[in-house]
Amino acid sequence: MARWRIWRASEGEADHVVRIEAQSFGERSWGENNVRASFVAPRVTILLAAKGSNDPAAFAMWRDLGPEAELLTIGVAPGARRKGAAAALLSAVCDEARAAGAGRLFLEVDEGNEAAFVLYKTAGFEQISVRRSYYRDGADAVVMQIAL
Ligand SMILES: CC(C)(COP(=O)(O)OP(=O)(O)OC[C@H]1O[C@@H](n2cnc3c(N)ncnc32)[C@H](O)[C@@H]1OP(=O)(O)O)[C@@H](O)C(=O)NCCC(=O)NCCS
Repeated sequence: MARWRIWRASEGEADHVVRIEAQSFGERSWGENNVRASFVAPRVTILLAAKGSNDPAAFAMWRDLGPEAELLTIGVAPGARRKGAAAALLSAVCDEARAAGAGRLFLEVDEGNEAAFVLYKTAGFEQISVRRSYYRDGADAVVMQIAL
């Protein structure tokens, strides 16, 4: 099976990111304007992933905070899940953040998001704290980190 091809998204590819983000997050989507604004946000990098010559099916955003980095969001179109896209993107984010000089990568995940939690655990992230009522619907966020 072909590997995931991963590259930095250009502003001309924003439509793909808007589409995949909406498909991934549904009611919890950031919304088109916020996704587009991420393309010009300082220190933010957006990665896309595709199989062969297909349209991209997954994306990730991370922010360079100097000694640390933060995974802002990651999403895979429903039809492309459980094929390693998120794991490949996470690995690419870690590589980029390490190359930029970060010593660790942080993220927050909804405590009820089993798929994401297992993904991060499998990738080597460890839980460091819980932020109570972090999300708009009152759900708690688990904060995780990985040493780079
Ligand atoms: C979470 C998400 C990004 C995972 O993407 P994915 O491409 O399907 O994940 P991968 O195929 O790379 O999975 C890697 C590993 O993570 C774990 N995993 C992924 N999805 C899982 C699920 N639904 N249940 C249990 N474990 C899961 C498994 O260990 C998996 O390895 P395996 O398939 O060999 O068992 C995807 O389900 C998604 O987009 N969800 C909606 C958006 C979201 O919640 N984003 C994260 C916000 S913090």
